[in-house]
Order: sequence, then C-alpha cells, then structure tokens
Amino acid sequence: MCGIVGYVGHRPALDVVLDGLRRLEYRGYDSAGVAVLTGADGLAVERRAGRLANLEARLDEVGREAFAGTTGMGHTRWATHGPPVDRNSHPHRDGRGRVAVVHNGIIENFAALRRELEGAGVEFSSDTDTETVAHLVARAYDGVDGGDTEGDLPASLRAVCRRLDGAFTLVVTHVDEPDRIVAARRSSPLVVGIGSGEMFLASDVAAFIEHTREAVELGQDQVVTITRDGYEVTDLHGEPSRVRAFTVDWDLSAAEKGGHEYFMLKEIEEQPEALANTLRGHFVDGRIVLDEQRLTDQDLRDVDKVFVVACGTAYHSAMVAKYAIEHWCRLPVEVELASEFRYRDPVLDRDTLVVAVSQSGETADTLEAVRHARGQKARVLAVCNTNGAQIPRESDAVLYTHAGPEIGVASTKTFLAQIAANYLVGLALAQARGTKYPDEVAREFNELAAMPSAVRQVLGTVETARRVAASLADAKAVLFLGRHVGYPVALEGALKLKELAYMHAEGFAAGELKHGPIALIEEELPVVVVMPSPKGRAVLHAKLVSNISEIQARGARTIVIAEEGDETVRPFADSLIEVPAVPTLLQPLVSTVPLQVLAAEIARARGYDVDKPRNLAKSVTVE
Ligand code: AGP
Ligand code: GLU
Repeated sequence: MCGIVGYVGHRPALDVVLDGLRRLEYRGYDSAGVAVLTGADGLAVERRAGRLANLEARLDEVGREAFAGTTGMGHTRWATHGPPVDRNSHPHRDGRGRVAVVHNGIIENFAALRRELEGAGVEFSSDTDTETVAHLVARAYDGVDGGDTEGDLPASLRAVCRRLDGAFTLVVTHVDEPDRIVAARRSSPLVVGIGSGEMFLASDVAAFIEHTREAVELGQDQVVTITRDGYEVTDLHGEPSRVRAFTVDWDLSAAEKGGHEYFMLKEIEEQPEALANTLRGHFVDGRIVLDEQRLTDQDLRDVDKVFVVACGTAYHSAMVAKYAIEHWCRLPVEVELASEFRYRDPVLDRDTLVVAVSQSGETADTLEAVRHARGQKARVLAVCNTNGAQIPRESDAVLYTHAGPEIGVASTKTFLAQIAANYLVGLALAQARGTKYPDEVAREFNELAAMPSAVRQVLGTVETARRVAASLADAKAVLFLGRHVGYPVALEGALKLKELAYMHAEGFAAGELKHGPIALIEEELPVVVVMPSPKGRAVLHAKLVSNISEIQARGARTIVIAEEGDETVRPFADSLIEVPAVPTLLQPLVSTVPLQVLAAEIARARGYDVDKPRNLAKSVTVE
C-alpha cells in the first residue's frame, strides 16, 4: 500500500507529481521520491526517507530546475522489504541509471531473482524487492538475456512481469523514452487519468482528480503505456486488452477515502485485501514460511510456553490466538495485557515464546513488555503492520501484516490482519513441532486463504447491520456476549462501540452472565450475541441459545450474529445478522465485521467523527 503517481503531458511533471503524492500520502509515508525525464538522455531522481516534506526540502536544496521535464513519476512508500531509509526509497534504478521503477506491493520471488541477477554480476544498492525489477527491465530493454524485447519498453516490462510472483503496481520510465511511461498491475491498484494533451497514472484517483475526472481502471495482469496523447493497454503477452472507463463523481476529499465519508469505512471494505496481502507468500512448497522469522524450527520446537501480549484491539486478536495455538500445538498459552505483563513478574525463560502484537509497532506498553521479556531471555516474535517500527526492531523475529496504513484511529483491517498473522504463527509452531502433519497444515492454511472471499461476502450484507445501528443510536448501553473465539469478538464489538459512539458497552463470556451481569438485563436493553456455528462446537451453540433465552425472558432486545441458515437461533433473535459458514477457529474473521459496521454507523448517527474519536490517538506511545 503506497502512493504512486505518473504523468506525461504539457505541464512541469515535478509539480503534478508532487501535488499528486501529497494527496496520496495517507497511503504510506515511510519515504517519498520522484523521477523526471529531463530530455537529452537525462533522468533526474531524488528520494528521501520520511514524510513528503523531507523530499521537498531536498529538492529545494538541489534546485528544482534540475527536474525540468513533462514526463515523470513519484512514490510514497509503505515499506515491506527493507527499513524505511534513503537507499530503500523509491524510485529504484538499474546500475546504469537508465531505468527507474516505483512499486506498490510485494514481489514474492524477489530473493530468487536477486540471486540470479547477482550471479550475472549485477550489484544491488538496496534491501528492497523492488530493485530486482529495475535491473530486470534494463536487461530486457538492452536485450541482454535474448528475447525480442530489445529497445521495446512495454515488451520489456511485460516479459519481466511474466516472471514475477506476488502483488504489484509497477511504473517504469527509461531515459531513451522521454515521451512515455509504462506500467503494470496485479492485485494492486492502478488507474489511468485521461486529460487533454496529458495523461496520468495513480494508485488512486485522488492524485489527479483536480485535472480530470475521466479515468480508466486497469485489470489484473494488464500493462499500460501512456503518452501525452493517449494510452494503450495489453495483457502480459502483448495482446490488446479491454478496460473499464469511468467518470469520478467524488470531490477531492472523498476521493482520498475512496468515496467514503470516513477512512474507517473505507478500511472496513479493505479487509479482504488486507487479509489476502497478509497471507500472501506465507505458504510455499507446502510449508508455512514467516517473514523475518529468525527463529529456527529448533527454536520453535524448544518452546514450552507461549505468552501473547498486546493492548486494546490487538489484545483481542491475542485472545483469538490462544484458542488456535493451544488447539493446534498443545502448548500452554497465556494472553496478557501488555500494560500488566511486566508488573506481574511473569515466569519466563529462553524456552518461552512471547508474541507481541502491535499494528503501529510503537505502543509503549507493548514495547516495554518486549524489553522485559527479552531481559528474561524469552524469545520475542513481533506481529506488526509497520515495517521498521520500534517493536519489531527490538524483537528476535517479526511477522509483518500487510494491511497497509490504517488512518482511522479505531482498528479494523489491522485487527483482522493480526488475527490472520497469529494463525500463521500457530501453524508455524504446529508445523515445526509436528503436532500437525504437513497435509493438516496445508488444509488449515487453505481454509485461511479462503477467508478474504468470506469477508467480502460479509461486506455484501452489511445493510442489516446498518439498519440495526439506526435503531440503537439512542441506546444507553449495549452488552455483547460470546463463547470460545466468539468471546474476544464480543469484547472487540464492545470496544468499538465505546471508542466510536462513546456509548457504555461491555463484552462478556456468555457463561459468566448468570454469575452477576445478568442483573443488568432489563426491558429493551440491547444485547449483541456472537453465535458459533451450529456445525462446529454444537455444545457451545446450544448453551448460547440457552443464554439468549435467559436474557429474552428478562426483556432484553437480542441482536444475533449467526451463521447463515442457522434456523435454531432465528426464533431467539429480535434482529439477525447472518455471516458465512467458516471453520470454528476462523469465525472471528467474519463475525467481527458487522460489529465494526454497527459501531461506525451508530457513531455517524450520533454525529461523531468516526476517524478521530475524542480522547484517542492512533498509536499510544506513552505508558
Ligand atoms: C483499537 O481500535 C484502538 N485503536 C486501540 O485499542 C489499539 O488497538 C491499541 O492501542 C493497540 O495499538 P497497536 O496495535 O498499534 O499496538
Ligand atoms: N515492497 C516494496 C518496498 O518495500 C513496495 C512497498 C510499497 O507498497 O510501498 O519498498
């Protein structure tokens, strides 16, 4: 997830590109860079780690006149491979500085490609996956490796894309082609803006909407060439491709939010992509592989106890991890609030694995828990959404989620991505310890890999949740009940309602109700119940139906999240929100989504800022 802008036209490309990057900076801001074709064999490139302002200051230092030209491109980075430092900033070039590339996404087979290139004598200057593309395109354009791409930039990019695995938006310029830019996309956004005597490329229409509202959305594995007079689209084999033209009817502010009123609403809809990107590349040749695991299989076999520590929503993902890891690995798992962890003097040693879950990677409570754990010789694996953040830097290993930047303060897509990443940790432990055979690990991963489409299915049915939200806008309090992995979902639903609608909400393990909280039940009190599948742990389903009956008998208004087709629970639901049938342990990935929508819509109904709830910060860097 990052910002990409390309331009060919009659205006100064640097100005157009920088304006566009400013509008895309919310998509990623680890670094920024630009490349402008200055004619007469010139390719001016500048890039800087940090916010766009750092790049602009640098451009002022070197003098913007060096960037005179009407063809150019730019990038704001959300790092996935290599820390956010200058050398890893885009654009990346080949060794002779003739090809420049910017990239959004992950080249999964970059390591093998890099080894091949280094074997051919190519020297690399960065840690990124992207740099391999710059060298490969240059070699194809120079006809180094044979093939019929010499001097043909579109054909060169097509040939390279045919060798890539993973997700990518690639935008490429060559000093010998000052009047055109070529680009390609696979499972990563790219749109063409159609101007008069000028053409645009961008990750998002927000980058060019002030110049044109006429756009074309590129499809999977398509390659586009833009010149100031038009564009051409082919497939990866050079055959002309059809594309969908559209007119953008959003204003600029809405465009940054994908047409939504708030980033959070857009991020709820990005959850299938966040899940798919988090899982991508972690199952190779029948085995679970983690990112910078740096923990050997022997380390994982030596583990005799697991702690999962986190805060807030991340803590709820940690609770889900407990059920999965204990079930798959037969290992004792303790889940602890990071702010409590080190003060309870936990029993840790070098055979303890501490999993620290933090989307920002900067949460002070979790960072201090990591430091405490390492001080006790425990091994720490970070699950983090921010490449190069403090927590992964201070951990023994890291598994990055790839949800992209989350602008809304309330966590949504990063929560689902954390759950998925925690499952990967559990499967990696089970695989290393042999508590799951390879075919069982493969089956579990394949069920997990089907979750993006299950979440997409839930997103198609959120109208019911919106209607329920409208009826709850004036409620004084809402209770949430769940059992097993539905219990952390109930806690997350309550947290969302508290932090977004400032409404009193409380989540309970449903079995606890009769031990006191049932005294809270009164006429018309809304109670949300997260049901397990009737086909999963049937005993849990039956007990939860009894719990619903108990609260209905006392006047509660029941809002039930249940598996589609669960007819047993229908008579007990004043409102029924159905979700697709998925395996028991994976149910949080689908049952959470209606609760996110519920909280956001109640907050909207109450006129609150859904993206910036009062008193909250996106990353709590104080204890
Ligand atoms: C949840 O919506 C909040 N954003 C908050 O609870 C958050 O999950 C918590 O502060 C942990 O943040 P982290 O994942 O960045 O460590
Ligand atoms: N994988 C590339 C990198 O880490 C691109 C990341 C992005 O999408 O910004 O540099």
